[in-house]
Amino acid sequence: MGWFGDLKETYEVYKERDPAIRTCWDVLLYPCYKAMRMYRKAHKLWLSGHTWSARWLSQRAARKTGIEIHPGATIGKGFFIDHGTGVVIGETCEIGDNVTLYQGVTLGGTGKEQGKRHPTLEDGVMVSAGAKVLGSITIGRNSKIGAGAVVIKPVPPNCTVVGVPGRIVRMKNQVVPREEIDQTNLPDPILQDMKVLERANNELINRVLALEEEMKALKGRAKEEAKAAPEHEPMRLAPEERDYEEIEDCIFADHI
Ligand SMILES: CC(C)(COP(=O)(O)OP(=O)(O)OC[C@H]1O[C@@H](n2cnc3c(N)ncnc32)[C@H](O)[C@@H]1OP(=O)(O)O)[C@@H](O)C(=O)NCCC(=O)NCCS
Repeated sequence: MGWFGDLKETYEVYKERDPAIRTCWDVLLYPCYKAMRMYRKAHKLWLSGHTWSARWLSQRAARKTGIEIHPGATIGKGFFIDHGTGVVIGETCEIGDNVTLYQGVTLGGTGKEQGKRHPTLEDGVMVSAGAKVLGSITIGRNSKIGAGAVVIKPVPPNCTVVGVPGRIVRMKNQVVPREEIDQTNLPDPILQDMKVLERANNELINRVLALEEEMKALKGRAKEEAKAAPEHEPMRLAPEERDYEEIEDCIFADHI
């Protein structure tokens, strides 16, 4: 395809995603257009083993457009970066067809991985302004990453992810309730039941210990009271109730 054909095709792509574009000549004003033309040359150089020249070209493009695309990255058709300043695309990124990025997006590594260490964006993915997608993870077809999100876990197709760390708020156009958001750390019902039982058991143990303490204290108090209590007075019955003879001060039945 000739230069003008490419321009017209690019115009159709940009028109779909940016209502601000008016004529096909406006395409020339987009940093994305320039960055992609330079990327294509740099990528060819990279594939043919001229890695230094490839990187030199990519750095030149970064200085001119604010968009840094590593020449080793793979990018499909219909790619569009709106505005573009501050976009960084890492070496092992794989970008499908019709992907859209906004300014300030990083498709980077976490610094912990070797080899494939940058994300894969499937067809139709949109990554909003300032979002960071980090590590060798896959963002499924047609998923959207919200502005400012930091995504470090894979995202299934047709989802919307927002926040830091990124959480899925929509799946297949359905709102995902907050408690169902975590797709990777699924709840373990057995562990949860065991924790409830453990808590109940601890409460019982504490209650038994407290009761033992209470009992000890009661016993101690009873002993002290017994020690302090005066000797029992001998019991005397009224004369008409007596079935024994009281001889002077002598009592026959002094214990009951
Ligand atoms: C994420 C986004 C794409 C919207 O996707 P969507 O599927 O239509 O999602 P919704 O608008 O229904 O939002 C779903 C929930 O996420 C929240 N949300 C949306 N975008 C968010 C963001 N960037 N950060 C945090 N939360 C966000 C909404 O408030 C809503 O929460 P709620 O359900 O508690 O009310 C959009 O909000 C966004 O971030 N667009 C930025 C585009 C951009 O970069 N433009 C720059 C042009 S220069």
